Amino acid sequence: MSETLSGESIPQLSGYSEAELDQAFAAISSEVAASAAALATPESVEAFRLQWLGRKQGRLKAISDAWLKSAPVEAKKLIGQRFNVLKAEIEQQLENAGNASASSALEIDVIDISLPGTGAKPGAEHPLVKTLNELVAIFARMGYSVGVGPEVETDFYNFESLNFPPGHPARDTQDTLVVAAQEQKPLRERLLMRTHTSPVQIRTMEQQPPPVRIVIPGKVHRNDAADATHSPIFHQIEGLCVDTNITFSDLKGTLDHAMKELFGSSVKTRFFPSFFPFTEPSADVQISCPFCGGKGCRKCKHSGWIELLGCGMVDPAVFGFVQEKQPAYDPKKISGFAFGMGIDRIAMMKYGISDIGLLYSGDVRFLEQFA
Ligand code: PHE
Repeated sequence: MSETLSGESIPQLSGYSEAELDQAFAAISSEVAASAAALATPESVEAFRLQWLGRKQGRLKAISDAWLKSAPVEAKKLIGQRFNVLKAEIEQQLENAGNASASSALEIDVIDISLPGTGAKPGAEHPLVKTLNELVAIFARMGYSVGVGPEVETDFYNFESLNFPPGHPARDTQDTLVVAAQEQKPLRERLLMRTHTSPVQIRTMEQQPPPVRIVIPGKVHRNDAADATHSPIFHQIEGLCVDTNITFSDLKGTLDHAMKELFGSSVKTRFFPSFFPFTEPSADVQISCPFCGGKGCRKCKHSGWIELLGCGMVDPAVFGFVQEKQPAYDPKKISGFAFGMGIDRIAMMKYGISDIGLLYSGDVRFLEQFA
């Protein structure tokens, strides 16, 4: 209330006798007590302090202006004494109220030290990343370095340079999403979501002369309907080794060793003839079932073997495409092998995950199990 802050609301003194002064000060004193009655919050205490002790607009200053300054000299002492008593009363009220509001604030903020702590929850590696890192580490120990390449790829790198010519039926096995409205571009420049990590074989060889030993983990895309074992987005790890005198037995030894590292030393491998446009000869690799040791169980569909990856010797035609930029890849002087495997399938086998969709669900209840 702004009037209570102004000098006008101070009543005139009726006289300067002690009785008259006592009465006038008693009225102000009961005003102090009334306005101090409900000081619960620090804000209201501060408002009270300003109301009474404010240097410019405070009521005490107004009283001093109205009563003390204009008083006859002989009354000044009597008024001054009462004035000091009043001031002390106000300060006492402030002190009481300050303590009270401070202690009520303490009650609100009080810390219950018997409550359990809020421990920091450390993150955990996603099972796919875990498997990916394990695979990379196995090949790193054999001297392989790690490469990456773009997920949005050109037709040239994803297909043509890997010996899938335009219209080749092998393209039908790797249908994918294509970027729209590129009809005006030559086919080899058109963009699509890569269907495998193999384009990074070409990109790597274009960047460096032989020898090459590299693994390339990454995300790939295919027009596959999602079910328990298929996802339109999944992960592969590619391997490429090019040097002088690289033979099919190097390929067999490398993959056999990698599978033993991954699944245990009792796991066996076997190679079957297969076809990929960019390897010749090509093979599919099976491992003996790590769950039943090859006796036959549900996991290996009672065959004792599980198919895990594709591989082969780099086709000379692939070196031909690379030679446009790196002539050192002369198929008469060097040779190499390549392999590719699905990281999701391996993660599912290792951790007993029955639905590939769980890897992409982001469901914390699933992911927590790997913490
Ligand atoms: N890129 C092939 C696929 O996705 C796998 C593969 C890689 C086969 C390297 C041979 C050599 O099916």
